[in-house]
Parts: sequence; structure tokens; C-alpha cells
Amino acid sequence: MKILVTGGAGFIGSHIVKQLLEAGNEVVVYDDFSASSPESVDPRASIIRGRVQDLKLLTESLLGVDNVIHMASFIAVEESVKDPLKYFENNVMGTAVLLEAMRGAGVKKIVFSSSATVYGEPKSLPIMEDAPLSAANPYAASKIAMEAMCESFNRTDGFDVTILRYFNPYGPGENHDPETHAIPNFIKAGIKKEAVPLYWKGQQVRDFIYVGDLAAAHITVLNLTGYNVFNVGTEAGTKITDVINILSDIFGYTLKIEDLGERKGDVMANYASSGKLKEATGWVAKVGLKEGLDKTVGWFKAQ
Ligand SMILES: NC(=O)c1ccc[n+]([C@@H]2O[C@H](COP(=O)([O-])OP(=O)(O)OC[C@H]3O[C@@H](n4cnc5c(N)ncnc54)[C@H](O)[C@@H]3O)[C@@H](O)[C@H]2O)c1
Repeated sequence: MKILVTGGAGFIGSHIVKQLLEAGNEVVVYDDFSASSPESVDPRASIIRGRVQDLKLLTESLLGVDNVIHMASFIAVEESVKDPLKYFENNVMGTAVLLEAMRGAGVKKIVFSSSATVYGEPKSLPIMEDAPLSAANPYAASKIAMEAMCESFNRTDGFDVTILRYFNPYGPGENHDPETHAIPNFIKAGIKKEAVPLYWKGQQVRDFIYVGDLAAAHITVLNLTGYNVFNVGTEAGTKITDVINILSDIFGYTLKIEDLGERKGDVMANYASSGKLKEATGWVAKVGLKEGLDKTVGWFKAQ
């Protein structure tokens, strides 16, 4: 199968690209490198440098492609609050142009990277796919809009659409600038023996999914047809303080804490039900938190 991966040079995309290649697929990475660099792309993949807003280049790039994995997106919640237009222009318009380019090129299969942020503050746990959506910030609003646009192309043009709502991915290669995610910030502070920045005294609960497991979920859904929505998580809620305790064990000393108090807009607890994906494809998360953190710390230490 020939697969075009938008945003394939990013943290999660680069893992997906590797697994797609290992499964024998031909892969085209389409990325503008606004938040990544070509060096993180497996050399067996071909690379096209471009924005997803470029209808002409994208339509040409899609000729002969069987399936699209759409990851290109800006991803920082706080930045989206400060500059919503940047997020709507990039994420929402980019997706509109991609879908139109796919229609022009006759490519009718898409896997879309969505996020647990589309659920806002959950009413019950674990979160099921039919829970109500709530746009708590412009990033979440952009993801809800992107999902809806993909769904509309399923209804009007018969696209096969699979929406994957990721919970909290972590793992080797996560090096955003600025980094807004907890685990890489904890590890970087731990390596430098600096205090770990902590909100809510570490009482928040999250569903941390190892990036290799998350990437594998994409491979299992490639042949699905129709319109599908799946959560991708481990089904286990972990307190942030538990992450810090495991990291202290790995580092061999007790990490110091910088108490940053409370942060407006944060969700206190979320974790997924991923039973629907398991039933449809047999996918399950295999890497436990301790093993995943070990691998992630190893990667950061090697940098
Ligand atoms: N990292 C997370 O915690 C997380 C959680 C839930 C969902 N997601 C989603 O997963 C996807 C990948 O996330 P990531 O952590 O790998 O992010 P990332 O920033 O590492 O990767 C995104 C990639 O998209 C590219 N890109 C951005 N805008 C583009 C555009 N207009 N045209 C072409 N390329 C563009 C960037 O250069 C980058 O390579 C995103 O869609 C994100 O919303 C991420």
C-alpha cells in the first residue's frame, strides 16, 4: 500500500512512518517542517516539503496514493488560546484543503489524528467514544472541526474515515519547542537534577500511551471501511505523582518538585475505554508505564 503521512516528520508521525515501512508499505512524508526536521524521517520514506494548505502540490503528491494518515497540525493548547486564528488557519483550513486534494486525486481513505481533548471535562470515566464533545479551547475546537470535516466527506463522497482520539502519548523522540507535555519536561528536569514543574500537586490523572503502541494502532486500522471513531489509550488512569515516583526510581534519586499551583482550564482526570478498538482490530497497548518511561529516559539521555 502507498501511504501519504502528513506531519510524518513529527514526534508521533516519525514512529508511524517507521512501522508502516516495516510492514512493507511505501511511504510519502508530506510535511512543512514547521515543528520538525527531515532528519527525523526514516530514510526509506520519500519526503515532500509542503504545507497542507497547498492544494496544487498536495493534489499532485496524492497521485497513486491508497491511504492518507493526517497528522499535520499545531498542537499546543496554551498557544491556541493566545492565537486561535493560527490554529484555525493551520489545522482547520489545512484539513479542508487536504480533503479537497484527496477528492481531486481520487484518494478516498483517511486516518485522522484526533485527541482526547475533544471530550473536555468528562462526565464519567473511562471515556467512551460516544461521550459528548466539548471545545474547552481553540485547539480542541480545531480537532472537533477537523473530525466533522472528515465525517462529512464520508457522508457526501464515500470516504473511508477512521478517527483516532489519542490520550496522552509519550516516548522517545518527543522534543517539541516549546515542550508543553509533562513527561518530557519531567525527564529533562530530572536529567539536569532541576526541580520538576508540577501543577495541582500532581493529583491529576491521565492515560499515558507509549508512542510505539499508539503508532501500531494506525497500522491495524488501515483497511477499515466506512466511518469509525476510536479512543487510543491504555484504559488505566495514572496520577502524575505516580509518574514522578517511577521516574525517581529510574534516576535513582527522589526528584525535587517545583509547585506551580493550579492551572485554569485543566481537566482533572481522564482515561480511555479502548475496548471498541480492541474489538474491531485486536489492538491492545502492550508497553507498561515503567518500561515505556525507561525507554524514554534512555532516549533523552542519549541526546
Ligand atoms: N503529542 C500529543 O500529546 C498529541 C495528543 C493528541 C493528539 N495529537 C495529534 O497528533 C498529531 C501529531 O502530534 P505530534 O506530537 O507528533 O506533533 P508534532 O508537532 O511533533 O508533529 C506535527 C507535524 O506536523 C507538521 N505540520 C504542522 N502544520 C503543518 C502544515 N500546515 N503543513 C504541513 N505540515 C505541518 C509539523 O512540521 C510536524 O512535523 C497532531 O495532529 C496532534 O494534534 C498529539
